[in-house]
Amino acid sequence: MIDGNNGWSKYTITDLSNIKGKRVILRLDLNLPYDKSQITDRTRLDAVIPFIKQLSFAGAKIIILSHFGEKGESIKPVADLVVKSLSGIKFIESLDIETIKKEIESIPLGDGIIIENTRMFNGEKDNTPSCARDFASLGDIFINDAFSASHREHASIVGITKYILSYLGPTFIKEITNLNAAAHPEKPALLIIGGAKISTKLNLIKNYLDQGVKVFVGGAMVHNIFKQRGQEIGESFYDPTYNPPESIYNHPLLITPNDVVLLDNTEVSLDKIPKNGVIVDCGKKTLKNLDELINSSKTIIVNGPLGLYEKGFYYGTEHVLTSVTASIDAKTYIGGGDTILVAEKLNILKKFSFVSLGGGAMLDFLANGTLPGIDAVTKPK
Ligand code: 3PG
Repeated sequence: MIDGNNGWSKYTITDLSNIKGKRVILRLDLNLPYDKSQITDRTRLDAVIPFIKQLSFAGAKIIILSHFGEKGESIKPVADLVVKSLSGIKFIESLDIETIKKEIESIPLGDGIIIENTRMFNGEKDNTPSCARDFASLGDIFINDAFSASHREHASIVGITKYILSYLGPTFIKEITNLNAAAHPEKPALLIIGGAKISTKLNLIKNYLDQGVKVFVGGAMVHNIFKQRGQEIGESFYDPTYNPPESIYNHPLLITPNDVVLLDNTEVSLDKIPKNGVIVDCGKKTLKNLDELINSSKTIIVNGPLGLYEKGFYYGTEHVLTSVTASIDAKTYIGGGDTILVAEKLNILKKFSFVSLGGGAMLDFLANGTLPGIDAVTKPK
């Protein structure tokens, strides 16, 4: 792990005076939420627009790379939005590298292109050298400004850096500088974590517990903990692929709900869950206890919903987010698409000290202090 801001700042470009005429490959994460033919949130795009404008003003040719969606679909809906939001950028639908190069040759300095979904190119997800070399051949320098995709060891994130002078972008540096503070929080500190898959969050939980940070676990992932402790969870969802070790599930700083809401909207204490009960949210006593912890913390980090929000069980998440933002003396951090969406609906997102653009990347960075995309730029090859 690199310590402090000085470590990272030497891997970014602050002086753009020599960039005129250079072809800059800019890896962004424009994997924007998309619902039935429309983009529903453009935050990740808005975050990088100022830097794209700076590059354009400095006379670079900008080659935007991003993945999109889950099935290797066209990035067109996002590309259309990029083209509308920035003058001088066009969408090149071809997957042929030579065709893309010709397009780059033909555009004037200060203009740019966005290419197709990187995951439509053979070898992107497997990080093959040929795919990485192809991407690198499009430009003179590479800037990774896609923090939220940098937990993926893909060709356009990791492999490409072997073949071209590479930097981290300003949005990336802002993320890791802020999250580095959250990773080593001022105490007393509290991590509030929810969501479904405990296996993906265990390192993070362990890392905070080891630092003496209290960790509240809600959402479906706490059902695994209940199960391991021999508590009845009825027919509640749990992650069957992983069992947390006793050092976690019985850790004195690990806090779990002591009452819950069931699918039929009844609230019961933990020892009263019926065999056919389905846990969908935290109960009111739990939330009250959590309020006390929130009020006495100097740093609070929230990631993941505490209830079955897909089915409308927002109450616990909304309550907690409201309490966290009311705690004005604490440094507060939020990440994860679903959690951010709830805060946005409540109109309290701006009250957080820092809103991470990353979901999985935020969790991995907080757990490990680095990401494959950071190491690719900062570690000697
Ligand atoms: C995200 O939305 O968290 C990033 O774009 C990473 O997407 P992925 O989970 O499809 O790799």
